[in-house]
Amino acid sequence: MHWEGSIHATNHLACSDCHNPMEKASVNSLLAKQSIVETCVQCHQQQRHEFMKRSHMPVLEGKMSCVDCHNPHGTVTRPLLKADSVNDVCYTCHAEKRGPFIWEHAPVRESCINCHFPHGSNQDKLLRASRPQLCIQCHFATNHPSILYNSSMTQGGGGSILNNPGNAVANINPGAANNSRVMGRSCQNCHSMIHGSNHPAGQRFQR
Ligand code: HEC
Ligand code: HEC
Ligand code: HEC
Ligand code: HEC
Ligand code: HEC
Ligand code: HEC
Ligand code: HEC
Repeated sequence: MHWEGSIHATNHLACSDCHNPMEKASVNSLLAKQSIVETCVQCHQQQRHEFMKRSHMPVLEGKMSCVDCHNPHGTVTRPLLKADSVNDVCYTCHAEKRGPFIWEHAPVRESCINCHFPHGSNQDKLLRASRPQLCIQCHFATNHPSILYNSSMTQGGGGSILNNPGNAVANINPGAANNSRVMGRSCQNCHSMIHGSNHPAGQRFQR
């Protein structure tokens, strides 16, 4: 129904770019190649690379395919998404992220791709940036000290005053532990319920 005017139709793709009615190359749908993914990556090489990144959706492993999220014949949503929004696509499998939550985190409600890449990423959990940078893109002036990212906090107090001339006090504590805001899961060491919380006292997503 949405083929006419879809990005594939307007780029002059033919049915036969993806289908070969003369040969049974695939198990079903008479595809041009053996699988859906191979059919798509004939042209979408960049997306193939994205699925090879350190953290990625298990597409090349064969556990899911492009058509779990896209409809190549056209849709009402950009970019050829199968549901009404990015979030509705993600909820089809990650239903627990839908909520409802007593305490919602605004960027999660808006779009999962505020923080995640949909195909793959070199950060863990398909994140768009490493933590804590991911969070401080938006939360740069919280009640947490805004001088978090000096050498004394990232190197356990051993930082040189030369790296950090404006903050001599923070440098007189050699051997101190690394700051919990940059170690391990970073902000999620404490704000663990980052997609939303149902705890009565969970407005800071800590429980
Ligand atoms: C960009 C690639 C692409 C193009 C172009 C394309 N298709 Fe498809 N088509 C697919 C894929 C992938 C599937 C398998 C979908 C699935 O398994 O869910 C499919 C499935 C189908 C099916 C089977 C539907 C079903 O429910 O199993 C039909 C029929 C079909 N296509 C017809 C067409 C026609 C007619 C055209 C031209 C107007 C066309 N396709 C163009 C990729 C394409
Ligand atoms: C014959 C080449 C070809 C094949 C095969 C193909 N595409 Fe495309 N696709 C294109 C072109 C050309 C565009 C236009 C945008 C661009 O330049 O990337 C496009 C755009 C898209 C977009 C982006 C839409 C947007 O709004 O930005 C998606 C998503 C997409 N294709 C998915 C698929 C999927 C899924 C398959 C496999 C079922 C597939 N394509 C197979 C050529 C192809
Ligand atoms: C887990 C769901 C999911 C799967 C699986 C998936 N995509 Fe996507 N794809 C998305 C979402 C969501 C976007 C929109 C990203 C945005 O708006 O920034 C997107 C965007 C795209 C685009 C537009 C350009 C871009 O990269 O932003 C293309 C082209 C595309 N996908 C092709 C593919 C192909 C080809 C496959 C299979 C090899 C595939 N996708 C598998 C969810 C998926
Ligand atoms: C068709 C089902 C499906 C859809 C749709 C889907 N996912 Fe996934 N997702 C998976 C599977 C399967 C895994 C791999 C889980 C594993 O390896 O334990 C995964 C993994 C992930 C992970 C990484 C988890 C980890 O532990 O590293 C994130 C983040 C994620 N998905 C986010 C999204 C987002 C954002 C969307 C929407 C763009 C989405 N998913 C859509 C099935 C899906
Ligand atoms: C504000 C940023 C942000 C947004 C927006 C976001 N996430 Fe996440 N997500 C994260 C972080 C950070 C992690 C890693 C959590 C950890 O280490 O405990 C994560 C982990 C995940 C995981 C793997 C671990 C788990 O909790 O299951 C999945 C799946 C996931 N997100 C899906 C989604 C979906 C679906 C959406 C959209 C409804 C979404 N995320 C929106 C930040 C976000
Ligand atoms: C795209 C922007 C964006 C990103 C990225 C983001 N947040 Fe948020 N966050 C918001 C907004 C907007 C609110 C709602 C603020 C309000 O209601 O005043 C919020 C609320 C919060 C709150 C509750 C604040 C309060 O005053 O109650 C916490 C805690 C929080 N975010 C932590 C995080 C953490 C940790 C990360 C990284 C995983 C993160 N956020 C990533 C935009 C973002
Ligand atoms: C050691 C635990 C811990 C870590 C790690 C942590 N936070 Fe917090 N965060 C808290 C506590 C405690 C509060 C105050 C809660 C309250 O007032 O109810 C808080 C409050 C917040 C708030 C609410 C607004 C404000 O200004 O108080 C935001 C936003 C926030 N943190 C973001 C972050 C970000 C971003 C990171 C990572 C750089 C992070 N937090 C790391 C414990 C932590």
